[in-house]
Amino acid sequence: MENAKCKSKVIIKLGGSLLEKGRDVIQSLRDYVEEKEKEKDRALTMILIPGGGPFADAVRNLSGDTHIPISEEAAHWMAVFAMHQYGIFLASGEIEIPLVESVDEIDKAGPICILLPYKILKAANCLPHTWAVTSDTIAAFVANKIGEKTFIKLTDVDGILDEKGHLIKKISAKEMFKKEKKGCIDAELPGFLTQNKMSCIIVNGNFPNRIIDVIEEKETNCTKLF
Ligand SMILES: Nc1ncnc2c1ncn2[C@@H]1O[C@H](COP(=O)(O)OP(=O)(O)OP(=O)(O)O)[C@@H](O)[C@H]1O
Ligand SMILES: [Mg+2]
Repeated sequence: MENAKCKSKVIIKLGGSLLEKGRDVIQSLRDYVEEKEKEKDRALTMILIPGGGPFADAVRNLSGDTHIPISEEAAHWMAVFAMHQYGIFLASGEIEIPLVESVDEIDKAGPICILLPYKILKAANCLPHTWAVTSDTIAAFVANKIGEKTFIKLTDVDGILDEKGHLIKKISAKEMFKKEKKGCIDAELPGFLTQNKMSCIIVNGNFPNRIIDVIEEKETNCTKLF
């Protein structure tokens, strides 16, 4: 049958903590995706969701440092646009990566794209507008909207570390929900994953080989939040 090749989708949230290396990470991922395109029946579509990084910190600091009052509602949407700023920055490297704003645009964009979430969030408008919900939970929400029950979170550490600084290789979202300190993930993420029967794999983006290992379901240093 023509066009029988079924593309699997990989959703990757690229943390603001990877500001310096983010564009290099994308280059490695694009090389990988293009390599897979050449392999028969191995094609995949990679959808990158930007974090907030220093752009979201600017929103946080506005009320913190300057004591200028800002409503949670306004701060929420300003922080969503922080993700857009980071996305535009990430797309502006040596290689051009298409920016998309809707699920429909993904298939037309090619094997790899950066998704800017404002329109999708505004249309659904069902996540609480608080600082507990930031780019990790938004990435989970968007993955769910796309029909994927898992996503990869890239950050600047190996995963969730315990009190002694050791990597937690596997932890349930329910157990994480009970922990007061959530480490490198949004406060709301464990609850959102549990409610929607989703999972997330946290990987250090400074090691692109680990990202590929996770995509290929090979053992590597990471935290599986299930
Ligand atoms: N228990 C912990 N385990 C892992 N990281 C932790 C822990 N406690 C604090 N952190 C910090 O969390 C940071 C990563 O989270 P952070 O929110 O800063 O990055 P990000 O999620 O990649 O970026 P963004 O939220 O801007 O998209 C690490 O640099 C680490 O220092
Ligand atoms: Mg974060």
